[in-house]
Amino acid sequence: MSYASHLRCKECGRCYPLNPVHVCEFCFGPLEIDYDYQALGRHISRQRIERGPLTVWRYSDFLPCDRQQVVDIGAGFTPLLRAQNLGEALGLRQLYIKNDCANPTWSFKDRVVTVAATKALEFGFDTMACASTGNLANAVAAHAAKAGLRALVFIPADLEQGKIVGSAIYGPTLVAVKGSYDDANRLCSELVEKYSWAFVNINIRPYYAEGSKTLAYEVLEQLGWRAPDHCIVPMASGSLLTKVWRGIKEMAWLGLVDWAHTRMSGAQAKGCSPIVEAWERQSFNIRPVRPNTIAKSLAIGNPADGYYALKVLADSGGVAVAVSDDEVVEGIMLLAETEGIFTETAGGVVIAGLRRLAAEGRIRPDELVVAFITGSGLKTQEAVLDRLAPRLEIEPHLASFEEAIAEHGETVAAGRQSSRGEGHG
Ligand SMILES: Cc1ncc(COP(=O)(O)O)c(C=O)c1O
Ligand SMILES: [Zn+2]
Repeated sequence: MSYASHLRCKECGRCYPLNPVHVCEFCFGPLEIDYDYQALGRHISRQRIERGPLTVWRYSDFLPCDRQQVVDIGAGFTPLLRAQNLGEALGLRQLYIKNDCANPTWSFKDRVVTVAATKALEFGFDTMACASTGNLANAVAAHAAKAGLRALVFIPADLEQGKIVGSAIYGPTLVAVKGSYDDANRLCSELVEKYSWAFVNINIRPYYAEGSKTLAYEVLEQLGWRAPDHCIVPMASGSLLTKVWRGIKEMAWLGLVDWAHTRMSGAQAKGCSPIVEAWERQSFNIRPVRPNTIAKSLAIGNPADGYYALKVLADSGGVAVAVSDDEVVEGIMLLAETEGIFTETAGGVVIAGLRRLAAEGRIRPDELVVAFITGSGLKTQEAVLDRLAPRLEIEPHLASFEEAIAEHGETVAAGRQSSRGEGHG
């Protein structure tokens, strides 16, 4: 059985039973899961966790689900890699990459959806739905297929092909909304009143959001039960950043790691940076924006958890950073060329933000830094297509190969090094 005890309003503190609801009836504040930490503390140990499966479900004691009937396609326990080459390029001595491209639908959203789908079944829903910037739609469609649930996913009509195919393949009803993510989300907020569906990021949101904590648990365990000094996380709604922080704090409260005063920093693309913009104004008041960036997965103009993300940045001593679309592409290429990891635009935002913060001395060279790479570049190939080195086209003969090498070899080699050479800090 789960240690989740009730839902609690993040604003007024009122408590509610564990139902599919997400806002407080009194103050309209968002609801969050609360746990019986005393009981959990008596029960939990590093050894108990280490005996668990190599998925997010090894942390099931920290999740609001009944472990018996989880919807599991293998989300989680992704690699944490020591990024020596990128660290050298950026002047960071202890840099790690948490590579969440290695999830079943190639983004961290599988973590949240495995929890949401499990709750949808527990609550007795037969339909799962979401408004999505792409990755969530992929994860919902895949988990619904596994669970035998009907799926409806609402996406902005102008998403990348990889994100569209990456949903359609699992057979959901794919609804392309002529508008932004925020338009799709507003529509879904109306639909949730009318249809009895499990909207993973609306009525199931308190449960769904808990899945992101597993990113933190894994990092701490993979570092040998130690908290990093600094995390850098991409921000769209801001939920991921708040839950990574929450996960670190929970493990410290329970004595599974020493409290390390981890700093949490968040990155957005300049073309959609309402959280960074508020941060720079030194305000907790988010002004919604109309997104215009290649980082479409982060293109949420009115971020639901923006206020709470700002609080985490402030409380943890982190910073917020916004980068241009050109920097995003350079970030994608730099990570690929130094560490052999092909990230989508959200990861480009993180690497570009990291580069900036390191160059400005806002991340210190000796900090143990974890950069969260949350989705795969195969879904956003459009972003880099015109930046790749030309290929050598040859006849299948030795002579043709050697001729092409003589003619174009240098261009090809130069092309490959272009983004690695710039701006090492
Ligand atoms: C790849 C990727 N990274 C990060 C995020 C940010 O998530 P959040 O909305 O929790 O801030 C998203 C959101 O869709 C995403 O697709
Ligand atoms: Zn309330």
